[in-house]
Order: sequence, then C-alpha cells, then structure tokens
Amino acid sequence: MIDPHRPQRRRRVLAVATGLTAGLLATAGALTVASTADAATTLGASAAATGRYFGTAVAAYKLSDSTYSNILNTEFNSVTPENEMKWDATEPSQGNFTYSSADQIVNRARAQGMKVRGHALAWHQQQPGWTSNLSGTALRNAMLNHVTQVATYYRGKIDSWDVVNEAFADGGGGGRRDSNLQRTGNDWIEAAFRAARTADPAAKLCYNDYNTDGQNAKSNAVYAMVQDFKSRGVPIDCVGFQSHFNAQSPLPSDYQANLQRFANLGVDVQITELDIEGSGSTQANSYASAVRACLAVTRCNGITVWGIRDSDSWRASGTPLLFDNSGNKKAAYTSALAALNNGQPTDPPPTTTPPPATTTPPPSGSGCTATVSLNQWNGGFVATVRVTAGGNQLTGWSAGLTLPSGAAVTNTWNAQASGSSGTVNFANVAYNGTVNAGASTEFGFQGTGTGPGTASCTAR
Ligand code: XIL
Repeated sequence: MIDPHRPQRRRRVLAVATGLTAGLLATAGALTVASTADAATTLGASAAATGRYFGTAVAAYKLSDSTYSNILNTEFNSVTPENEMKWDATEPSQGNFTYSSADQIVNRARAQGMKVRGHALAWHQQQPGWTSNLSGTALRNAMLNHVTQVATYYRGKIDSWDVVNEAFADGGGGGRRDSNLQRTGNDWIEAAFRAARTADPAAKLCYNDYNTDGQNAKSNAVYAMVQDFKSRGVPIDCVGFQSHFNAQSPLPSDYQANLQRFANLGVDVQITELDIEGSGSTQANSYASAVRACLAVTRCNGITVWGIRDSDSWRASGTPLLFDNSGNKKAAYTSALAALNNGQPTDPPPTTTPPPATTTPPPSGSGCTATVSLNQWNGGFVATVRVTAGGNQLTGWSAGLTLPSGAAVTNTWNAQASGSSGTVNFANVAYNGTVNAGASTEFGFQGTGTGPGTASCTAR
C-alpha cells in the first residue's frame, strides 16, 4: 500500500534502490520498476511530487462512514472543514467558542500528516444569529474578536486561512458586495487580515471568492485589492479561487492566465472549492484542464475539491465530484490523476469536434490550420489558439503568430514558445503533438500589449 502522504520519501528510496540495483542486477528490470512506480497512484501523492497538495472539503459527521474515510485517508493530503469553522459553528453565541466538530477534522488530518485549510474567518454568510443585532463599531469589534480567537485557537495547525470570503459583488460593477461587514467600513478586509496575522503568524492568509476564476470585472477588483494590499504592506499571502463550474459558469479559457496574473503579484494561488457539474469525458476533460492550469503556475500550490463523492456535494444533483455515490472513481478522477502525473490528458472523443462538412481543407502541404481567439484588455491579452489537423493525423505541429509591435508573450501553456516578440513560433508539447485528422487541440499564451489576430500552422 502506498502512503499518499510520503511520496517524496518514497521517490528518494526508489532512486537509491534503482542506483544500487543498476550495478548488481539486469538494468532493464530495475528501470521498469522505477518508471512504473514514478507515476503516483493517488491524488495526494501525485500532487505532493510537485510540491503541491490535493485536498477535499470534509464534513465531520461523515468521518464515521468507512467508504468516505477510506477515500479521504487514501487519496487526499489536505482537508478543508466544509462548515465546521464558519462563524455560526465556532461562535454560536457571542464570546462562546465551540471547536469540537472542527477539531475532529483538524486533529484527524494532522495525525495523518495532512494539511488543513481554515475556512472561513469572516464571511457575510453562515454568521450566527446574534451578529444581526450588531452594526458599526460593535460588529467590527465582534468580527475582529472572532478572527483573533479562532486563529489563535488553531495557531500553528493551519496551512492557509480563508481570512475573508466572498467580499466582492457579482456583475460588472467591480465593487464590494454590500453586507453587514462591508457597512462597518471599507477597511474591514485589511483589518481582518491584520488580526489574523497577529493571531497566527505562520499561517498563509488568503482572500477567497467565486466567479473570479477568469479575468472579469470581479476578479479585476480583487486583483486591485491584492495589489493595493501588497503595496501598503497589508498581510496577504494567497488568493483562493473557489472554481465551482457548471454549464452556466464553465471553466474559463483564461483560467491559467488569471491564476498567473495573481501569482505575479507575489501571492500564492490555490484552487479552493473545485467542483465541475457534468459527467463522462466532458467533465473529465474539464477536471484535467483545471489541474493542468494549476500545475502550469509555479505559485499554484494546491487544489481542493469541494467534497469526495457526488452524494457529498452541496450540489449533488450536478454530480460534480471525482467519486460516484458509491465511492467508485469516475472518469474525472482518472483524468485529474493523469493530469497531475503530467500524463496524456484524456482526449476529447472525436465526435465532439467533427470537421464541419463545409470546412475548406487546409492548404496542401501545411497539414493543419490555426485560429486565434483573443481576450484583450487595456495593456494585455490572453490568446487561445486552436490547431486543427487536416486530412491526416498530425504527429507534431508548430503555430506561428506575429505580434504587433510593442507586444510580448509573458506566459505560455500547452505549447513551447520560441521568442517572445515579433513572430513567435509555438511548438506542441509532449502530450498534444498527436492530433487526429480533423480533430483539434488548443494552446494559449498571455501577453502585454495588443494580441495577434491570426496564426499559421505547420505540421512537423
Ligand atoms: C457550502 C457547503 O458546502 C454547504 O454544506 C453549506 O450548506 C453552504 O456552504 N462557497 C463557500 C463554501 O465558500 O463555504 C460553501 O460551502 C460553498 C460556496
């Protein structure tokens, strides 16, 4: 049995064993063992091999369910109490703190070497009833006392705290959400972060939100806050992206670029509540994309799914998780693990991207076409490039894009860029060079300045 929490050690042991046996035994046998064992077989072990965690939301009352706890123990190396650390759970009446449910999760996780994400110190939802009688300074002080008490109680046990959750408004306004906490003054967020830092200096302090997964008015507003906090020395270490996806709110095409731009501000980024409604290969592909986005961002140091089995989900009818109601691994599990292991992601079934009957065949000799879609904002862009094979299977490709003057590529995913300005060639990487006849694959890049509108494609 593989211990999911000690993959680094396991790898080192294997490397030594391989080195020793190489001189003593037939090398071929030793090498086969090493390379097979190198692909981790659990989510936590695989994430840990690149220095990351793979966690799940946990409900204390489910820990006695053996199917649930077996999967938890085997697959994950981080936990987030799903409800047990929220304000209503930890301070049901003012000044009286209860930690028994949260402690069940925290103590058990720590005994097994798992990390704990604390969720959440200050939030407009799931507040105890007594807060509705307070406003102004009294509410501000009650909130700060809550932050201080809870973060002090768990000092040294929490890897990352969601200090403030969901404080920004949806829609195009780009402003703060109205709430009782917001009405105590715009500085409530930084006050909460300062209190949390004082209470637990070692915990990473995160701002966490939803609908901030791609670049939009809301994530721009959070970005501006983080930038401002950094410039003024307000303690913030990480930004959490909840990543609740479904048909209405799908995984954004600029997910990775958005994680990267926050990381570029000097904070860690974490995928904190991942769930993707759907089923089969569509869901599996989305999970693989989400995982790959995190892996491509150095400062994306962990992924948490919001529950274990579909039936554990807060949106169970959308079957958004990695295990089915019986605890069996779904296709989404397999593709998430493969992506973590940096293996070949699940290919979309050929029927999902049929060559339209009216498509003009690619120019003879090129073997492929490339089209660009741009998400342009003032001073920057994300380009998503779709490479489509012609009548023959591609076994390697290269796309050429000429950037307008002054523009530069800052970050590329799913391709290898040569150069960063002028005409830049993007070659396939190991897992996406093979494209069946008529099928497509996508890569992307982020840049400063104005993005290019067209691309050429060459089979290689
Ligand atoms: C959800 C829990 O999963 C549910 O059990 C509870 O009834 C409501 O809250 N964003 C968050 C999480 O930050 O705390 C929410 O969790 C889901 C949305």
